[in-house]
Amino acid sequence: MTKQISTWPYPRVVAHRGGGSLAPENTLAAIDTGARLGLKMIEFDAKLAADDVVFLLHDDTVNRTSDGRGLAASMTYAQIAELDAGSWYDARFAREPMPTLEQVAARCATHGLAANIEIKPCPGREVQTGRIVAEEAARLWADAALPPLLSSFSFEALAAAREAVPALPRGMLYGRVPDDWRAQTDALGCVSLHADHRALDAGLVADIKAAGLCILAYTVNDPARARMLGERGVDTICTDRIDLIGADFFEG
Ligand code: G3P
Ligand code: CA
Repeated sequence: MTKQISTWPYPRVVAHRGGGSLAPENTLAAIDTGARLGLKMIEFDAKLAADDVVFLLHDDTVNRTSDGRGLAASMTYAQIAELDAGSWYDARFAREPMPTLEQVAARCATHGLAANIEIKPCPGREVQTGRIVAEEAARLWADAALPPLLSSFSFEALAAAREAVPALPRGMLYGRVPDDWRAQTDALGCVSLHADHRALDAGLVADIKAAGLCILAYTVNDPARARMLGERGVDTICTDRIDLIGADFFEG
């Protein structure tokens, strides 16, 4: 059975990749930006370096968001830490590194931020990434007020995370929501379903809620659309536009 939670404990607005579109994604500077604008929760992408250090990066390669070249899975974290992950966005972020999950947990604690850790495995490393990210998250957030919410597009990664640390809440991530979403979320013991907001018509939202799951919609950058999704019953939206859709957007 799908795990039912009576009250969704997480904030209703989440900064996508740390600081939305206002800072280089998946960096400590992005997290600081989200916190400075009053956000209470951030989403970010976690994967393994070749030496199994958990760090933040969206893509399989470092090419788009740093001054390096190559597959993340073939680089040690010491090599990754040397790269500049800020200048591609703006010169004022020069030398901003790709942080480890440990550094991110400390920064979340400093700012009092809840976390949605998207497990983003490099191809072929789904099980190992799910297990190690869950174990690290449980250790690093052991004293946090809210447990980190794990999510992934990879069923295998979330299954491994569940096996490693069953107590951490999980949300299955989808672009288009497949017909067997009930079976998948049941099998993973999910508390939530995370989907591209364009897939979330009113009927599907009602069905997901009736199944006892909470809903996180990404990536919602239009305030009118965010309002409509909230009225439909979506619990939380993930946004790049934390300047337009702030922490208190759904208040009052
Ligand atoms: O978790 C929601 C969203 O971050 C998933 O898409 O590609 O931005 O990681 P992406
Ligand atoms: Ca993500």
